[in-house]
This record gives sequence, C-alpha cells and structure tokens, in this order.
Amino acid sequence: MLLTFEGIDCSGKSTQARLLAERLQKDRTVRFIREPGGTRISERLRDILLDKRHLELTETCELFLFSASRAQLVAEVIRPALQRGEFVICDRYFDSTTAYQGYGRGIDREAIARINALATQGTNPDLTFVIDIPVDELEHRKQAAGQPVDRMESSGRQFYERVRAGYTNMARETQRIVMLDGTRPVQEIHDAVWSTLVLRNIIQS
Ligand code: ADP
Ligand code: TYD
Repeated sequence: MLLTFEGIDCSGKSTQARLLAERLQKDRTVRFIREPGGTRISERLRDILLDKRHLELTETCELFLFSASRAQLVAEVIRPALQRGEFVICDRYFDSTTAYQGYGRGIDREAIARINALATQGTNPDLTFVIDIPVDELEHRKQAAGQPVDRMESSGRQFYERVRAGYTNMARETQRIVMLDGTRPVQEIHDAVWSTLVLRNIIQS
C-alpha cells in the first residue's frame, strides 16, 4: 500500500506522515520515505536541488533531477517494499512535481505526467493527502522555525500561491487525493487521516 503526503512547504506533511507511520508500525511493516532523497544517489541529487548557491539551475534541469531522484527511489526502495506487501509512506511523491514544476514553474503538465509515469514505472499512490495551508501561514511557520532558506524556498510568494492552487485543482480532478485543512490542530488532522484510511478500506481500524 502506497500512501503519500503533499502540500506546500511547512504545511505539516512530515508531522502527519510520521504520526501515521508510527501508528501503523504497531502492527504492520512500514517504510517511511522523504522526497527528494531516500537512497544514496537520491540524497546526492537532493543536495544539488536544495543548494541555494545553484542559482543557474534551469527549470528543466530541476524537473529532471527531482524525477531522477524519484526513479532511483522507486526502483531501489519503493517497488521492492510494495512487492513484499509493506506499507510505504512518502513525504512527497510525484504530485509534488506536478504542483511545483507544473503549476509553480509553468512547465507543460502533459510532459510532466509522462515523466512522472516513466520515473515511477507506473507505481501510483493508493491514497494521497494534501495538507492545505494559506501562504501567510507558511510564512509565519517559517519565521517561527527560524531555519535557513533553501533554493526552492527562495522562489517567492506568487510561486507558492500557484503551487497551492495547483494542489487544489489536482484534488478536484481525482478521488485519489484527499485535501485536509492544515490549520487545524495536529491531532485533529491525524484523526481525519486515520478515518479516511478506514473509510477507504485501507485499514480495518
Ligand atoms: P512540512 O513537512 O510540510 O514542511 P512539518 O511537519 O515539518 O511540515 O511542519 C512545519 C512546521 O509547522 C513545524 O514547525 C511544525 O511544528 C508546525 N506544524 C505542523 N503541523 C501543524 C499544525 N497542524 N498546526 C500548527 N503548526 C503545525
Ligand atoms: P524539503 O526540505 O524536503 O521540504 P518540505 O519539508 O517542504 O518537504 O524540500 C523539498 C523541496 O523540494 C520543497 O520546496 C518542495 C520541492 N519539490 C519540488 O519542487 N518538486 C518535487 O518533485 C519534490 C519531490 C519536491
């Protein structure tokens, strides 16, 4: 079973992905993955992608590097784990490429759909949660966290507005994607995640 978490930066996806992984782990084998990264090669590509000195990185190169990182991760980790019948929980997956490189950067979304399919060998999530927060909330959380800004995070407010609107459109287009209000308390969001899994017959209780 492949479950993925999506949303703009600081939406609380990692918090929710971890909470779910911890709870599922009590009686199931769970693989927790963060994108980009998760393999030796993918982590090196992550460093290139997030290094804020790489100002010359083109949008097309960015698209291929995220996809290259994912191709390695799918082949090396995700598919073998799914074949063993494990639960795989991903903090970001190919919907991030559609949202950030497609809606955010403006790259042709049909081309992105083909690249996503190639990178994942058609390995699609069974269910995806988009944790939605307004861009104002992203800025508040980022300031509160006080962490240094990476290359992607230097993209500006308008960029994040496009990415957020992209996720909203994507959630409208498919039942696979469930959108949750990320401004609610952590435990409430987790409860909504859990009940969705029960409702969709992914878990029993
Ligand atoms: P992401 O993986 O989307 O970047 P994180 O889970 O790392 O998000 O959370 C980003 C920040 O927001 C952290 O400081 C975290 O404590 C805070 N946070 C996460 N979920 C919530 C929530 N539901 N309400 C308020 N703050 C939250
Ligand atoms: P990360 O520090 O993992 O951020 P977050 O905690 O928000 O997930 O950095 C990943 C960054 O890369 C984030 O800004 C989203 C972006 N990204 C893309 O633009 N395209 C992609 O396909 C993926 C996986 C991530």
